Amino acid sequence: MQIKIVIGTIAFMLTMMVFGYSALREPARLERFTNAELGRSIEAGGHIFANNCATCHGVDGTAEACFDAAGNQIACQGLPLNFNGLLCGEPSQRMTDMGWNGTKAAYVLTTVSAGRGPIMPTWSEQFGGPLREDQVRDVTNFVLNWESETLCAAPVITYDWPETADEFLARTDEVEPGDPTRGAELYALTYGCQACHGTLDGLVPAALGPSLLEIETDGATRVEGMDAATYVYHSILFPSDHIAPECPTGPCAGPPSAMPANFGARMGENPQDMADILAVLLGE
Ligand code: HEC
Ligand code: HEC
Repeated sequence: MQIKIVIGTIAFMLTMMVFGYSALREPARLERFTNAELGRSIEAGGHIFANNCATCHGVDGTAEACFDAAGNQIACQGLPLNFNGLLCGEPSQRMTDMGWNGTKAAYVLTTVSAGRGPIMPTWSEQFGGPLREDQVRDVTNFVLNWESETLCAAPVITYDWPETADEFLARTDEVEPGDPTRGAELYALTYGCQACHGTLDGLVPAALGPSLLEIETDGATRVEGMDAATYVYHSILFPSDHIAPECPTGPCAGPPSAMPANFGARMGENPQDMADILAVLLGE
């Protein structure tokens, strides 16, 4: 009798200790579980991105290197996603520009689910797209995971671009006279202008942005007091400042512009690119 009670009490205390211990450990266990689950989701999202998104948004999401199914490099049609303007800050610059009041995660998820504009497809089954809800969440987690201290510490534009194209081209210690042959290459591939604006021989028409075939004359009429070269220069650096009147599918949308906002940052790494692009578009 006595022994039974002692054994019973000990058993009870042991149970309570084990119970209490696991109760104490529960938050840590849950957190580990959540991290592991998020990790798996990001990994699955990476595969979805490589198979469905990289052709337009670039292999690393910077919209700098895009390839077709045969592995040939093509111009990127999508906006940069691995980009501080989109991912850094809550709200980020891009969310503010778009007048988005929800969270960043909801911004990415909604755009992916429903698509946007004439080129970005609808992805969620809910809207007739090919991906399940959990797959949309996975690829959203993958995109959000590009936010990092390094990405967000980098200033958006590193080069100190002067006001006008003339002032820029006068910096002869930094830039040589523009080379139109190199400019044509940058236009077609490196910066993918061609994917949206069409080829410079006029054979492939513009898809998303205005045709630039007459920009040398049209450019001078867009903004009072701005010459064509400065207008083009300014359009590349700050697409949302002035919205062109006519796009291939009707009046151009914006501001914000559907043209990527990271060319100023990218060309800042090598300002000669700007001189060469101006040369091919304007003969400057
Ligand atoms: C056929 C080309 C194409 C494909 C494929 C594509 N996108 Fe896009 N995406 C675009 C374009 C173009 C835009 C800009 C739309 C606009 O604002 O008019 C865009 C915009 C976005 C945006 C919003 C970016 C911003 O700054 O507002 C996100 C997020 C996005 N895409 C994610 C994805 C994901 C994830 C996939 C794959 C599941 C994908 N896209 C596949 C072309 C594409
Ligand atoms: C993802 C598509 C896209 C890419 C890539 C793109 N643009 Fe644009 N661009 C647009 C759209 C849309 C507009 C019209 C809205 C606006 O004015 O911002 C535009 C407007 C312009 C304009 C003003 C045109 C006018 O008729 O007033 C110029 C100049 C221009 N882009 C040059 C470039 C150059 C140069 C590049 C490459 C370095 C480039 N764009 C890359 C979509 C794009």
